[in-house]
Amino acid sequence: MAVQISPSILSADFARLADEAARVPNADWLHVDVMDNHFVPNLTIGLPVVEALLKVTSTPIDCHLMIEDPDRWAPAYAEVGAGSVTIHAEAAKAPVRTLRQIRAAGARSGFALNPATAVEQYEDLLPEIDMLLLMTVEPGFGGQKFLDVVLPKIRRARELIARYGGEVWLQVDGGVAADTIERCAEAGADVFVAGSAVYGAADPSAAIDHLRELATT
Ligand code: DX5
Ligand code: ZN
Repeated sequence: MAVQISPSILSADFARLADEAARVPNADWLHVDVMDNHFVPNLTIGLPVVEALLKVTSTPIDCHLMIEDPDRWAPAYAEVGAGSVTIHAEAAKAPVRTLRQIRAAGARSGFALNPATAVEQYEDLLPEIDMLLLMTVEPGFGGQKFLDVVLPKIRRARELIARYGGEVWLQVDGGVAADTIERCAEAGADVFVAGSAVYGAADPSAAIDHLRELATT
């Protein structure tokens, strides 16, 4: 399992996104948190900003859609060129169709679960999913405290993926930092979103190297 780090631009300077993307050349992905003030109590950015980012960075974009109607909007993010598009289980009304549309448009399909959403009920969907995202905070804001209560679910999700036998990345998002990433990796996560731990650091690129090292060893 290769460790991947996906810094969240939620903690970057929104007025200088091109520069902020350039500060993390060693990132595997750029994580873009799309929030609609309905699915989560916060409003961030949408499709035009993703399109603008794609023009200024060669780092693939990892779109995390925290929006009420992902079935309607997710395929467009894949069509404009996002490398990965993640929809929430709690919001999607036709997840199989939408995950297939994301893949058909050329992106990796992502499926996210909030901390209180059980993973077992989605076991049969694993063949439709390229990346399973387990939220380790309640979605909506950067800088929140990591929820240890999710660790057993990470472990169970890794077991389900192993039983399925296909390649499904297991991403964690929320409160992932130097003091929590090892627990996530040990439980079976292999893709790590980090917002404040990367963009809140004096040297974001060095912070990524450090997180990668902690997750690998
Ligand atoms: C939270 C977002 C996260 C957020 C993580 O709802 O999905 O991606 O940016 O920020 P940190 O790493 O600061 O918890
Ligand atoms: Zn996110």
